[in-house]
Amino acid sequence: MNAAIRAVVRQADALGHETWGIYRGYQGLLEGDLEPLPSRACANILQRGGTILQTARCLAFHQPETRAEAARILKEAGIGALVVIGGDGSFRAAQALMREHGVACAGIPGTIDNDLPGTDRTLGFDTALNTAVEAIDRIRDTASSHGRLFLVEVMGRSSGMLAVHTALACGAEAVLYPESPEDSLENLVTRLKAHWDAGKRSSIVVVAEGDTVGRAMAVGEQLRQEHALDLRVVVLGHIQRGGSPTALDRIWGSRWGAEAVRRLDRGERGFYMAEVAGAAVAQPLSRVLDPQPLPPGDLGILVSVLSR
Ligand code: F6P
Repeated sequence: MNAAIRAVVRQADALGHETWGIYRGYQGLLEGDLEPLPSRACANILQRGGTILQTARCLAFHQPETRAEAARILKEAGIGALVVIGGDGSFRAAQALMREHGVACAGIPGTIDNDLPGTDRTLGFDTALNTAVEAIDRIRDTASSHGRLFLVEVMGRSSGMLAVHTALACGAEAVLYPESPEDSLENLVTRLKAHWDAGKRSSIVVVAEGDTVGRAMAVGEQLRQEHALDLRVVVLGHIQRGGSPTALDRIWGSRWGAEAVRRLDRGERGFYMAEVAGAAVAQPLSRVLDPQPLPPGDLGILVSVLSR
C-alpha cells in the first residue's frame, strides 16, 4: 500500500497536482483527519509494510447521511478526486460516494485475500503468500523430523485464494477452504491415511480461516476426538498482514498508483486499477458488485495430485 501511496503522490506532483493524505480511511475522513502529503513525506516508505496513512473499518459509512457528510468534508477541503486503496467494502463505499454525490473516485486493489472481481492480483497478496510459505517451510522441518501432522491456518475470511496458493507453494498434503464445501473431514482423513500407508512421514494441511468445515483449531479438535489423530495446530494470523512487501507488490503498487492518477488527470472517473493477463488495466467501479472470484479449482486438485 505504501508503494501505491508514494506513486499517487509523486505522479500527481509530476502532473502539477497537490495530494492530501487521509488518515484511517473513511473514519479519518469523517473526523477531518487529513493533511497535505508532499512528495518528501513519501521518502523511504516503499519497503515498509502496513500503510503510513493507517486504516480503519468504518461501519457508519453504510449510512447515506454519513456518506453525505464525507462528501461535504471533501468538497470543503477542495479535494477534486479521491484515490481509495482497499478491498470490496472500500470500493463499494467509493461507488456510493460517486453515485450519490458525484465524488470523482479511483480504486487501487489492496487486500491480502485477492478476492476482488476483475483483477488477477490485489496488493498484499503476494507478500502474505510468501510470508505464509516461509513459515510453513519452517514448520515442515519439525513435521518431517518428528513425523507429525500439522494443521496450519492462513487468513481468508471468505476466500480460499491465499490458502490454495500457499498449499501449492509449500507442497501441502491437503487444503481446506470456504469455496470447497464438499471437502469433508472423512475424505481428508482417508487421504492422509493413504499417504502414510504409502510411506509418508509428515503431513501439512493448510486451512483457510473461513473454511466452513471449521477453523484450524476446530478441525484439529474434531480430528483428535473422532479420528484419534495426534496433530499440532498453528494459526499464522496477523504475521501475514505485515512485513516488507515483495518486489511484485511494490511494482504493482507503483504502476497502479501512477496509472490511477494519470487516468484521473485525463478526466476518467469511477474505475479501479486491475491486472489482467499481466497488463495494468482499469475496471469500472461497478464491477466490484460482480461475484467474488473463486480460487482456481485446478490448483486445489494439483495440491492433492502432487502430494502423493
Ligand atoms: O479482509 C482481509 C483480511 O485479511 C481477512 O482475510 C481477515 O479475516 C481479516 O482481514 C483480518 O482483519 P482484522 O485484523 O480486522 O481481524
